[in-house]
Amino acid sequence: MKPKTVAELLSDDITLQQVTIKGWVRTFRANRFIALNDGSTLNNIQCVVDFENFDEALLKRITTGAALDITGELVESQGKGQKVEIVVETLEVLGDSDPETYPIQPKKHSFEFLRENAHLRTRTNTFSAVMRLRSSLSFAIHKYFNENGFYYMHTPIVTGSDAEGAGEMFRVSTLDPKNPPLNEDDSVNYKEDFFGKETNLTVSGQLEAETYAMSLGKVYTFGPTFRAENSNTSRHLAEFWMIEPEVAFMDLDGNMDLAEDFMKSVVGYVLEHNASDLEFLDQRLFDEEKTKPQAERSPMRLIEKLKFITENNFKRVSYTEAIDILRNSKPNKKKKFNYIINEWGADLQSEHERFLVEKHFKCPVILFDYPANIKAFYMRLNEDGKTVRAMDILFPGIGEIVGGSQREERLDVLKEKMAALDIPEEELWWYLDLRKYGTAVHSGFGLGFERLVMFATGMTNIRDVIPYPRTPQNAEF
Ligand code: 4AD
Repeated sequence: MKPKTVAELLSDDITLQQVTIKGWVRTFRANRFIALNDGSTLNNIQCVVDFENFDEALLKRITTGAALDITGELVESQGKGQKVEIVVETLEVLGDSDPETYPIQPKKHSFEFLRENAHLRTRTNTFSAVMRLRSSLSFAIHKYFNENGFYYMHTPIVTGSDAEGAGEMFRVSTLDPKNPPLNEDDSVNYKEDFFGKETNLTVSGQLEAETYAMSLGKVYTFGPTFRAENSNTSRHLAEFWMIEPEVAFMDLDGNMDLAEDFMKSVVGYVLEHNASDLEFLDQRLFDEEKTKPQAERSPMRLIEKLKFITENNFKRVSYTEAIDILRNSKPNKKKKFNYIINEWGADLQSEHERFLVEKHFKCPVILFDYPANIKAFYMRLNEDGKTVRAMDILFPGIGEIVGGSQREERLDVLKEKMAALDIPEEELWWYLDLRKYGTAVHSGFGLGFERLVMFATGMTNIRDVIPYPRTPQNAEF
């Protein structure tokens, strides 16, 4: 008999029949009721054992975390709380779980504790729901691009360029750090390194994605990116996944339209397909919020927040307007911000982004036309000579979730920019070639996948939405 999943057994169209099921014990109550979970759904299937007909030694091995293989009759449940249950006929313990040492007991564990046991944390309701949503969001992203004529492109993970120019890169090298080959001036001779040059883990696939957009038209990458920024915050990872579409002949307005439509579509997908996980996470967040002072609580519940995204237009505001709003805001005047906004040109901190989204506009915001000197070299310079065609999308509770721009397509302007920032032309000769041969307006953006998962699940620490977080001083598992 082909084993069924718990999700199949609990679906509305299941017929009562003899079934086989494999899963892990969540609880075993009254020597009679096993709650079995197999990861296919948040819900457990209740398996009822008639203890008089089973060996006591076997029953003792039914402990939280043990793996079981059960065959029995699926019947309408006598008890409350479930429509069907299995009357157990045969039961095999596939793998024991010592109750003295198994870390995931049927009680509330702190997220800190579960992070230390990340290899087992998906056996809890919260983490299994989060990771099922992560999987669904990932699928929704591919689905959106596939249905909208984009090609999926795999950009390299090892690169020789620093796309963002922020210098936050992890070196990739096979040289002996204690005894590297040296040049005459005692600098390290990377010509002898594996790739014959300095290389690092990519911070973004954008520059390579641009090359494909300029031939295939509409492309996207979805892969791991690495940033050695030493920011130990609840929104930063050293290894995170980024989605980066890039489109030829599309300007910044088109880019904002695409980003908004895309975000609405993927959020809409999980609202439609992950209802029971979302309902659970909605309640979890609500309970967590209740422990906070009233003023810090979110005015909306999780599902409400997700629907708000799909049903409302994102507010588009220029950087210059945003600075005026912030300068005149209460927390700025009362010096409540950690960074006070005094003048045009200031880089926005997450406290400012969240003020704009959560307090001022109370909806997702797209900020555009930022000062050139706080943004990357590749963004298209506006006619004013001081702002660039950049856009950031800010979400409630998250702050910046998307960063993108129209790219500088004019060879002379790009070269000037690179020279001013000391970016050697030899390093990006291929990037400059795009501006020499058939250059055209083009744009794209990057969505931080984990920030999206945080938003969709209501989790407040980015370490809790990726299986094995990599952060400063931490690369366990
Ligand atoms: O704004 P960023 O740095 O943009 C780029 O890398 C562009 N090359 C994207 C493009 O235009 N193709 O990063 C994009 C997004 C941010 O908005 C944020 O959501 C996420 O990536 N992000 C991080 N997520 C987790 N941990 C970090 N350390 C992150 N840094 C950026």
